[in-house]
Amino acid sequence: MPQGQSSTREIPETGLIPKHIAIIMDGNGRWARKRFMPRMAGHQQGVETVRGIIKACIEREITYLTLFAFSSENWRRPADEVSFLMQLFTGALEQEITKLHENGIRFKVIGDLSKFEPKIIKFIQQGEQLTAQNTRLIFTIAANYGGRWDIMQAMRKMMAQSPELPLHFEEENLAQHLSMNYAPEPDLFIRTGGECRISNFLLWQLAYTELYFTNTLWPDFDEHEFELAIQSYQQRERRFGRTSEQLQMALTAKQ
Ligand code: IPE
Ligand code: IPE
Ligand code: MG
Repeated sequence: MPQGQSSTREIPETGLIPKHIAIIMDGNGRWARKRFMPRMAGHQQGVETVRGIIKACIEREITYLTLFAFSSENWRRPADEVSFLMQLFTGALEQEITKLHENGIRFKVIGDLSKFEPKIIKFIQQGEQLTAQNTRLIFTIAANYGGRWDIMQAMRKMMAQSPELPLHFEEENLAQHLSMNYAPEPDLFIRTGGECRISNFLLWQLAYTELYFTNTLWPDFDEHEFELAIQSYQQRERRFGRTSEQLQMALTAKQ
């Protein structure tokens, strides 16, 4: 689906390989606890999984990968865990950004960055600028992100830009201000760690996304597990409101 279009209005193009995969990386803490290790060890191992999944996306020519790294609700965690997560994020950014660039990967961050330390914000901006022209994989990290925050900030931007609009505005007027306005809506959503909820992730964009939940904990989510999720996606019939018969007819007409 070209960016800016809405799956509730237009029928997006679908293919065997999902163009955009969005993942809630959950289960780091439980992975560590099972091994009698501190939760932080799970987060550290989770970074290794991220590396593997980026590689797997490139091999499969998946164009957009979006990972939920820190939710707007995660500030409620113990202060030492929050600060560890921030350090891990900054460290990974410092270490990996050149590699991402060398591999033709564009790096983006979505979320309310105003709460982050200036040092982290600077790293993010530098990384985004450095990789802005890359197109092989658009890799987005959602940090201090919340789906409701996203819709609210888009609403505020829209109202500031066109004060006359709010009385009669269309989906597109709002959608162009959402933080993922550079990407098509996700085709496949994956959540590891066994919980079957969206946890305030991309609320608007997941309207017609195929959902996949697995009990596998994020640090154990390897290429094989990733492949299983894609295979599950490939067996889905994406109807976007139509009937199965309509889809079959459209398919026959194409052949
Ligand atoms: C996901 O793992 C990582 C973040 C939310 C940052 P968790 O830390 O939520 O792991 P569990 O759910 O406690 O196992
Ligand atoms: C969701 O994980 C957010 C991230 C993975 C960053 P949580 O583990 O915080 O989710 P809930 O709050 O248990 O649903
Ligand atoms: Mg969790």
